[in-house]
Amino acid sequence: MNSPTIYSHDDPVLQLDSISVRYRVLREPVTSIKEYALRWLRSKNSYADFWALKNISLSIQPGEAVGIIGANGAGKSTLLKIIARVLRPTDGRVRVRGVVAPILTLGAGFDPEMTGRENIYLNGAMLGFSRSDMNKKMATLLEFSGLGDFIDVPIRTYSDGMVARLAFAIATDVKSDLLLIDEILTVGDINFQEKCKIRINTYKETGTTILVVSHNLKTVEELCDRVIWLEHGVIRAEGKAADVIAAYEDEREQPIIGNIQVTHA
Ligand SMILES: Nc1ncnc2c1ncn2[C@@H]1O[C@H](COP(=O)(O)OP(=O)(O)OP(=O)(O)O)[C@@H](O)[C@H]1O
Ligand SMILES: [Mg+2]
Repeated sequence: MNSPTIYSHDDPVLQLDSISVRYRVLREPVTSIKEYALRWLRSKNSYADFWALKNISLSIQPGEAVGIIGANGAGKSTLLKIIARVLRPTDGRVRVRGVVAPILTLGAGFDPEMTGRENIYLNGAMLGFSRSDMNKKMATLLEFSGLGDFIDVPIRTYSDGMVARLAFAIATDVKSDLLLIDEILTVGDINFQEKCKIRINTYKETGTTILVVSHNLKTVEELCDRVIWLEHGVIRAEGKAADVIAAYEDEREQPIIGNIQVTHA
């Protein structure tokens, strides 16, 4: 019999050991499924390897709020998918302790034809809650979302900010050990962003670990103790939020074109 793993309070919630992720991309673009199938039958589809993450090692302690920043395509969402086990790494090992909430990203887990209320039941069911469990939660959930009468209209009529309100209200209603937020906080209005920050800070105090991916550096700096800067799938810098954000902004102000670094006069 395997002996149980005993964790001490100081063990990391999340540990990534040398994670690499390879995507296979078609060398030549195809314009239709038919073309793809024909090429597949003739064994003419050829693929190139693209490494979205390369050798990422990371350890995160309970109650930490960690920000992940970096340019479009740097690998931030891929990293969250690996942690949520939506995606398996090509190499390396992921160790997560406790309950991981589904990734908070715009539109995920919602049926656009269903109303906000129906989507709450749907999401609850996916998290293992019965209809009567959800009925008990409904009042506080609605209150937090601030959606008012919009809760009974189909989600496809919502603005991005309204979808974000609903998603955040649902995902944070259940206490999890690890909350993964992918660019969702910044679409809500100022009032809602404030509510989110308060809820995130209460979570941190009770030991929930939070990973925030965002292009809004101000939000990241306000919420996070530590920041990781991803660039082309590798960790470019890691450290205190203010220091890493300053380094990232500094470099963006001096774009590199080819091998020539452009400095401002
Ligand atoms: N399913 C896929 N197949 C092939 N390549 C992919 C796939 N998903 C992502 N990629 C590529 O992997 C790289 C990293 O993508 P990812 O979505 O993790 O970036 P990101 O840092 O979240 O960017 P953004 O800031 O735009 O959200 C990109 O170059 C992207 O084109
Ligand atoms: Mg992304």
